[in-house]
Amino acid sequence: MKEQSYSVSIVGMGYVGLCTAATFASRGIKTIGIDIDEDRIGQIQRGKAPLREPQLNQILSRVVKRKLLKATTDISNATDTDASFLTVGTPSQPDGSIDLSYIKKATESLGQALRNRRRYHLLVVKSTVIPGTTSKTVRPVLEQSSGKTIGPGLGLCANPEFLKEGTAINDALHPDKIVIGSNDKKSANELTRLYRRFYGSKLPPVIVTNPETAELVKYASNAFLATKVSYINTIANIAQHIPGVDVNQIAEAIGHDPRIGPLFLKAGPGYGGSCFHKDLQALVSYSQQQGYDPHLLKATEKTNEEQADKVVELSERLAGPLEQKRIAILGLAFKKDTDDIREASSIRVIDRLRKKGATLVGYDPMAMPNFERVFGNTIELAKNSHDALKGAECAIVMTEWDEFRRLKAKEYIAQMRNPAIVDARRIYNPVEFRELKFAGIGFGP
Ligand code: UDX
Repeated sequence: MKEQSYSVSIVGMGYVGLCTAATFASRGIKTIGIDIDEDRIGQIQRGKAPLREPQLNQILSRVVKRKLLKATTDISNATDTDASFLTVGTPSQPDGSIDLSYIKKATESLGQALRNRRRYHLLVVKSTVIPGTTSKTVRPVLEQSSGKTIGPGLGLCANPEFLKEGTAINDALHPDKIVIGSNDKKSANELTRLYRRFYGSKLPPVIVTNPETAELVKYASNAFLATKVSYINTIANIAQHIPGVDVNQIAEAIGHDPRIGPLFLKAGPGYGGSCFHKDLQALVSYSQQQGYDPHLLKATEKTNEEQADKVVELSERLAGPLEQKRIAILGLAFKKDTDDIREASSIRVIDRLRKKGATLVGYDPMAMPNFERVFGNTIELAKNSHDALKGAECAIVMTEWDEFRRLKAKEYIAQMRNPAIVDARRIYNPVEFRELKFAGIGFGP
């Protein structure tokens, strides 16, 4: 590996791929971003991010201007670089199992392009894939299409990512660990060297293992976090029946125990986002295929699905039967500071409220264009939170946006027909909302 002119290509300019490409380029590594979507590539070439992520636009415009990041639809350009990272999507099939078609297609195209190249090339599987994918799917496709075998001239590693939306750039610059899985020593060494170059003295712990372990680490991590959320939501649902009990105090207390830890103990309307549901489904399906039924993980998912019912129950407690009642939904994004609505709990709650015949009006500071794109005009969308509250008989806080946190009780009272709030994210101090009807997840009656 030539230390001075190391270059990488990233195949798949979705969320993970683009953030990874931007951070590599920001550290002076020549990077090529590759995607089949011409619009997306066009935007990146102009230094514009095709998705919302704090810091991403600034970094992109800088690295594109300095020619450290190039974007193309032509995957054969990847062969001019030292390593290619696969960051294509691994969506769910209708039965929940993983769809590896993008992985196979990208690997095949890359292999074909590598066929007549003599220089060493390392393929790194960064996409979330079930155990065995790197060795049993990617490897044969790569070897067949390139006409080479893994060894001195061709490398292969699994290397999962752990980026969170909203803090992806910071997570990429300061990861808590790097996991490298390979059956080939040279591949693992090459990737370790790349990361050593990238992080310098701030290199986090590097766990070098086999590909299957690396692949399962990613699922184990997401399944644990999702289970932590469903766990605290379970405690919240119990607490909700006990006068004077507040799940937030319970979370604070148990979080002091270092064996438990304080993070990911925020009770709410259930987890959303592009990863948790998809990855749990894929892991459950994979495990069942191996002959083991993972009850705990299925319960995590079921608890999450049912958490939407808890939100609806609280609105019925405050507003009575919901038929033809105007309900304001504050927040559509799956968490704050993103326009992403994939698997958002708001969608599950909206679906249930519609079935009950409620008239819905939604507002979100960022996610309304995405919501409209997917759901058309199934619900009315308001220009701002005050408009959403106008004439409503119940307001449900579905996303913990700072903008909602700043709303005062008197603003709710001034706008609403029946001032009643369901705080599904527990952003308010109930004492300050004593003048109106108030219910919160995990907050006793
Ligand atoms: C997650 C993982 O954290 C990340 O490591 C992985 O690479 C991708 O999936 P992300 O989907 O961006 O990242 O969201 P995250 O911040 O983890 O939140 C997931 C969901 O859980 C959100 O809907 C959030 O509101 C919810 N959540 C999180 C809670 O309800 N309570 C909590 O205490 C924490």
